[in-house]
Amino acid sequence: MSSPVSVVMPFDRVASLLYKLNRVTSLPMAEEENKGLSDVHISTQYHITNDCHVKVNAVSRFLFKLPENDVDNEGVISKGKEPINCKDADGDFIVRRKPVDNLTNQREVITIYHGLETELKDVGLQIWNGCLLMCDFILHGNLSWKNETILDLGAGVGLTSIVSAMFADKVYSTDTGNDVLDIARNNVEVNARLLRNGGQSVEVREIDWIKCDKENGIYTFTAEELEKINFVFAAEVIYDIDLTEAFFTTIEIILQKVPKTVYIALEKRLVFTLEDLDVVSPAYSHFQQCLTRLVNCHESNLLIEHSQIPCDFPQYFDYHRVKELELWEITSRVSSG
Ligand SMILES: C[S@@+](CC[C@H](N)C(=O)[O-])C[C@H]1O[C@@H](n2cnc3c(N)ncnc32)[C@H](O)[C@@H]1O
Repeated sequence: MSSPVSVVMPFDRVASLLYKLNRVTSLPMAEEENKGLSDVHISTQYHITNDCHVKVNAVSRFLFKLPENDVDNEGVISKGKEPINCKDADGDFIVRRKPVDNLTNQREVITIYHGLETELKDVGLQIWNGCLLMCDFILHGNLSWKNETILDLGAGVGLTSIVSAMFADKVYSTDTGNDVLDIARNNVEVNARLLRNGGQSVEVREIDWIKCDKENGIYTFTAEELEKINFVFAAEVIYDIDLTEAFFTTIEIILQKVPKTVYIALEKRLVFTLEDLDVVSPAYSHFQQCLTRLVNCHESNLLIEHSQIPCDFPQYFDYHRVKELELWEITSRVSSG
């Protein structure tokens, strides 16, 4: 189980806090100031900075290995090859370091500006474990995203979008609130050298799930844009019951017409509640209910199915792949009957 922010408190206060947390959130947030720090930033090094945005106070370098296969031949990272089309903002070719001899040990780095110890409303300013699981999955399946259009929901500061944009034709990195969207834009720019077309194919746009409804659709996307999306990624978006409801409504709208595949990475967070006198995971239970409801909804001509993907693919990023980390796939296809 992931360790919450360490705060020493007498048992009765801990119990009451756990009870409150159960009501409010499943992310590890401490009672003091209602702030929480992601496990990712507890276990990785970061540098304090104030050179990006008022809500950003840290920058982390995420080292990762490249997949075994050559991932691209169009100027993206290509193991042991020089990029062909990778240019900086001035149109100059970016000189890459020499390929290393042992390709399996080749490491790359993504630089991410982010927040630390945020309030619940700003959790998107941090990187969460499920994000790194999703990044591993994206790297592992890199050939599957080539030439595809990806929608990243609740993308936060943009790490999953950045990894997707190493391979995909087009990536929409979406979240809500100007702060997180600005920082994601900045992070895309900072890592442009790794991305297809130097990051030109990444668009950071707002999607607030709460503002999406079946009548008006996804208010920031045209029907044509939605139809072109092949894959949807969402990491660590299951932590609050009302938000999970809104998230699933959004997924239902996105899946309405053209077949697509959705991947959801989450960490099943357990809490002890006095109500249950047991360790439970309310957000996860609600997620399961939403999944069941989604596959049983017959409002379109599409057949929706879901399955859990075993997390036995290689680890490219450094983090603790705890057993509570899960990856789910939802597919929609035209029903034959
Ligand atoms: C725990 S963070 C995960 C961020 C990132 N995907 C990661 O895994 O590191 C949850 C994300 O959901 C976003 N979110 C919360 N409410 C939302 C809403 N109503 N519409 C869209 N995104 C929302 C947050 O802003 C945040 O970026």
